[in-house]
Amino acid sequence: MLILVIGQGAREHAITHTLLQDSNVEVVCAPGNPGIAAIAQIDAVDISDNSCVVELAKKHKPDLVVIGPEAPLVAGVCDELRSAGFVVFGPSKAAAALEGSKAFAKEIMQAAGVPTADSKYCQTVPEARAALELFGAPYVVKDDGLAAGKGVVVTDDFDAAVAHALACIDSRDGGAVVIEEFLDGPEVSLFGVSDGITIVPLTPAQDFKRVGNNDEGPNTGGMGAYSPLPWAPKDFVAEVTKNVLQPMVDEMNRRGIPFQGLLFAGLAVTSRGVRVIEFNARFGDPETQVVLARHNSSLSELLLAAATGKLSSFPELEWKSESAVTVVMAANGYPESPISGAVISGIDHAQEQGTVVYHAGTKTNDAGELLVNGGRVLSVTALGSDLAVARSQAYAGVERIEFDGEHHRSDIALKAALGEIRLGDHN
Ligand code: AMP
Ligand code: GLY
Repeated sequence: MLILVIGQGAREHAITHTLLQDSNVEVVCAPGNPGIAAIAQIDAVDISDNSCVVELAKKHKPDLVVIGPEAPLVAGVCDELRSAGFVVFGPSKAAAALEGSKAFAKEIMQAAGVPTADSKYCQTVPEARAALELFGAPYVVKDDGLAAGKGVVVTDDFDAAVAHALACIDSRDGGAVVIEEFLDGPEVSLFGVSDGITIVPLTPAQDFKRVGNNDEGPNTGGMGAYSPLPWAPKDFVAEVTKNVLQPMVDEMNRRGIPFQGLLFAGLAVTSRGVRVIEFNARFGDPETQVVLARHNSSLSELLLAAATGKLSSFPELEWKSESAVTVVMAANGYPESPISGAVISGIDHAQEQGTVVYHAGTKTNDAGELLVNGGRVLSVTALGSDLAVARSQAYAGVERIEFDGEHHRSDIALKAALGEIRLGDHN
């Protein structure tokens, strides 16, 4: 089976790596990155242009296309690929609005009876001020559109909250902001693979969104992740599937916009129960690196079954009993203004330590050196008999890798490994 993977991050590297564990699978990835190029064919096309992606599919004639990032999904690449006759894992433009518009996601949640934070959609600053006063501190202020996880400000500072609301409203024509109630409690990312009718949950993971240890500093795309969650409530996955994932899929279906692809629920386990923070319409990064590290079934068959409407008869997924941890190594200046160009060394040594090093923002130069090329540079991933072992393995890999200005969190999965996460705490 030939699979075309669209994207260029550590997520797509992990997806490609896992797909290739099925002996009958070949992967072409576009545009890919140097890490992906070491294991699969890459084709450097512009994936921000849907027609280029369709041309690419016509060239390679894949049996399945898997879309990684949100931007092409929200731009409708799956619709165009399907019109051209391809089998695609990924939602239509209309269904991807669950990620592309926070207001749309809230409306579907409300109709589906899915528990989430109370919120107000505001198009003017006076409306936003009134909503901030209504909910009180900590203030949660979200850009309504796509912002790669960085459009959210959570702050106790009223003026900073108003300033972010103004920035969202002014960012483009029709700009708007969603102000919502603060949710306490640890966060969980749960992915569901859906064929539009049936949704199959994967194993849960926890992401670390803030750039610094102890959840300090600005939000990022994610600085690390681990799975499983030893502290999660009993029957967590079954409950969330019943109360969140399946009702969303049913409601989308009722509206004639079936969600086929990866539905990613960002959840808070609050003192009042599980609440949805947001939905994404794609695999999460870096959660995918740990979820797929523990996946013990055939990923290609799962995604193909979802893309062809055959999930109801799919065998139950198997998961390794081991734990997985991934640590993101970031560029100087990330997330505000990452600086590219530093030379990366030591990846081979990290791999000799038993880690899998997924590439994100990397490129090679004419001299064959590997260089930093983006904010999140590498995602160093390890399995271990428990979280403590997986952590020390992952950090042993991180210690072997160097580049100027490199920074990472040193507390990924630490509290969970020490048994210090209690329900009701914030991460
Ligand atoms: P989002 O882009 O909606 O996932 O938000 C990014 C991050 O902001 C989340 O992972 C949370 O850490 C935080 N966040 C968003 N909404 C809330 C909320 N209502 N209460 C508390 N934290 C939130
Ligand atoms: N790690 C969170 C995301 O992929 O949106």
